[in-house]
Order: sequence, then structure tokens, then C-alpha cells
Amino acid sequence: MSADPFHLAWFLNGFKVQTWDSPFAGPGGRHLNSPDLYIDLARSLERAGFDYILLEDSSFVPDGYQGSMEAYLKNAWMVPKGDPSVLASLLTQFTIRLGVIPTLSTSEYQPYMLARLVATLDQVSQGRSGWNMVTGSSDLAARNYGRDGLPPHAERYERADEFASAVFQLWDSWAPDAVVEDRAAGVYVDHAKVRTVDFEGKFFKTRGPLNVPRSPQDRPVTVQAGGSPAGRNFAGKWADTIIGYVKTPEEMREYREYVRDRAVAHGRRAQDVKVLFLIDVTVAETDEDAKRADEAARSAALADPAEELAMMGFTTNLDFSRLDLDRPVNEQSAHLVTNGHKSVLDQFVARAGDRTLREVLTEPATPVLVGSPDTVAAQMDEYMQHVEGDGFLFTQNNLTRRSFATITDGLVPALQRRGLVRREYSHPTFRENLFEF
Ligand SMILES: Cc1cc2nc3c(=O)[nH]c(=O)nc-3n(C[C@H](O)[C@H](O)[C@H](O)COP(=O)(O)O)c2cc1C
Repeated sequence: MSADPFHLAWFLNGFKVQTWDSPFAGPGGRHLNSPDLYIDLARSLERAGFDYILLEDSSFVPDGYQGSMEAYLKNAWMVPKGDPSVLASLLTQFTIRLGVIPTLSTSEYQPYMLARLVATLDQVSQGRSGWNMVTGSSDLAARNYGRDGLPPHAERYERADEFASAVFQLWDSWAPDAVVEDRAAGVYVDHAKVRTVDFEGKFFKTRGPLNVPRSPQDRPVTVQAGGSPAGRNFAGKWADTIIGYVKTPEEMREYREYVRDRAVAHGRRAQDVKVLFLIDVTVAETDEDAKRADEAARSAALADPAEELAMMGFTTNLDFSRLDLDRPVNEQSAHLVTNGHKSVLDQFVARAGDRTLREVLTEPATPVLVGSPDTVAAQMDEYMQHVEGDGFLFTQNNLTRRSFATITDGLVPALQRRGLVRREYSHPTFRENLFEF
């Protein structure tokens, strides 16, 4: 017995410099953001039948390591980073079926501007765009957009709820058949099928209608990543797909059930939200090669976890370099409170228990799958048999053409041979493919 077919997606950790100092950095990837690396990635994902690529974003220069921007700038850790909507529009022109989703924050945009941007992306991609609906998780970013810091966690979700409501109403302000393009009658748009939205909330106000027609896929696909109860409730109400960021098969199952229950509570069907789980995968020719590569990466990180410390600083707004690497985390947890990525930090502290900061920092927060393509395909099958849906997201910290080929050209064909993932797309739009199974 094997699992029902499931979905695959890629979480790209920013339109940024990738592994500039690796022997496999490739031409043109060393000094500046290199769109051709991402175009090659998107085309490989499409060849492998992925549902979507999600483009992470943040808009600040981090300083959460040793109280300075130095380490981030010196090592190109999360900076320089370009605007994801520019990369998204490029990627739609080099693909024909892949869904392309930029991250755009409800703390940084206005609803009209965001609805219009994503709707335009949906037009130029003929129905393959989406929106990663983040609420913002950095005080530094908030300070770049006219605030003194982030609003409190609960208020961010309250604002995001209102924001999403305004965006959906703007997207729906054109009836699906408003564009008639009737040459004989001299009518391009039937004006009776376009209406104002007159949205007035506590935080936002927008008149509408949008000046971009209805989406070719009815509405752009929405994604959510926040894992707190408020985040999962928000996803249950507004998202078509959510990123699950948990560790064990039991947690995955519980996470999915919770989100599906929230969808039903909001009057939707459980299957209207596709829950995709982040996984940490190392694939090589043989199990032994994969194990060696994985162990080498882990022992390098254990010996020098500076990048892991800096990434926790980036994510949580807390300077982890001020903590003692070799003391148990639960003795230092009084310092570990954030208004930023709350669920990420809470999970980190819970998982750590009395283990040292060094041990936990270097241990992935998501399932670890290591082996040959066939070994990892079998493991993914087992996970999905237990969780019962809806698929996985891959991400790679040190992205090169060689690293993503291990997934798109090694692992995916092994999954296809087992009938676990699609061999080709059945539909032209992203939404239709995502909800096909
Ligand atoms: C796996 C994952 C990916 C995320 N990606 C982004 C991102 O690209 N940009 C961003 O501003 N926030 C991102 N977030 C932050 C969330 O959208 C959310 O604002 C944050 O996690 C706090 O909400 P929570 O406590 O509900 O998790 C991500 C969170 C997770 C767990």
C-alpha cells in the first residue's frame, strides 16, 4: 500500500545572494542576485511537476548577531536581498504551469496596492500567481515603514484579517464575465459587471473597484506560514495552502487536522486548505553518500554555529550570540521571548528542553530525510500514509544548480515511479492543479 498522490512545492529563502563562496556557485552567482539561477530552478521545478515556488521575503538589514550588521553583510546572510515581486514576474515569463508566490506583508502594503500587484501578476502569468500573506515579524522592518516597532502579535492578526477581507473584495470587484471584448457592439468591459467595494474597517479603507480584471484562476492562490493558533485560524479562514513547520509525523497530523477544523469553522470545506510540510532532505547517489554529506554539514555547524545563531537572530529579533552555547536552553529561556516569529521560538524552546543551545541550534526543526532517491521517496511515502496529506515543501540553505538537481532530477523521478506525485500538469492554472487531488 502507498499514500495517495501528494503535492510538492519549493520554499526559496529569498531573492538573495546564494552560496557565493561555494565551488559550485556557478557563473554570475557570485556577487549580485542572479536571476538566471532562479530561472533554472523554476524551470527544473516545472519539469518535475511542482505546484509552486514560494518566495520568502524580509525588508531590512539584520543586526541580530553581536549587535551589528557586520556578520550579515560580510557573509551575505539574508542581505543583499531583492524585491520578490520582481523575481516573481520574471519567473512567470520563463514557465508555463508553475505557481509563483511572492511574500508581501500586511504590515508593509496597503490592501489596494497589494491586490493590484498580485492581480497583475496573475494576468501576466495567465492564472499562476499567489500571495504569501505574512503579517510581518521584524521590528527592524516595521521601522522602515513608518512605525516604531511591530504591533503586538494579536493585533497583527486582527489587522491581517481585515486586510485579507479588503483584498478578496477587491479581487472580486470584477465579475468573471466582465470583459466581453465585443467589437461589433464596441464594448470592451461591461460596466455593469464591475462594482465598487466601499470597504471601511478599523485599519483600512478602500473604495475600489480594482482597475485590473478578474483573475484567470478566479482568485490568486493564497498561502499562510504563521504557525501559532492565531496564524492557523487565519489560514483556516483565508488561505488555500499553508506551510507546516513541525517535526514529527504525529505533530504533522495534528497540525493538519487543526487547520482543516478551522477551515470548517469558517464555513469552508476541510479540503479547501492544502497543508504542505517543510522537510530537510539530503539526497545523493547512495544512502552512504547522503549520510556522509549530511553528517559533514552537521558537524561543521556544531563546531561553528555562527550562521545558525545569526539566523535565529534574524528570525526572532533576539541576539542569540549573547547566550551560552554550551548551557541548557531551559536555563536561559527567560531571555527567549519575542513578538516576532512567536511560534518558531516557542517550538524551539519546547524542543530544546535541557539540551544545550549548540545541540538544538544545529538540529533541523522539521523532519530530516537522508538517503538515495529511492530511500527518501519511501520515507516520504510513509510520512504521507500517516499524515494523510497534502504534501511537502523543500528548502535549501545553500542553493546551487547541483543541489536542487538532487531533488528535481533525482528524488522526484523516484516519487513518480511510485505514483506518488504528478508526471504532468492536467490544467493551465495554478489553482486547478493545486485542487486536482
Ligand atoms: C516556515 C515559515 C516561513 C515564513 N516566511 C516568512 C516570510 O517569508 N516573510 C515574513 O515576513 N514572515 C514569514 N514567516 C512569518 C509568519 O508569516 C508570521 O508572521 C510569524 O511566524 C509569526 O506568526 P506565528 O506566531 O503565527 O507563527 C514565516 C513563518 C514560518 C513558520
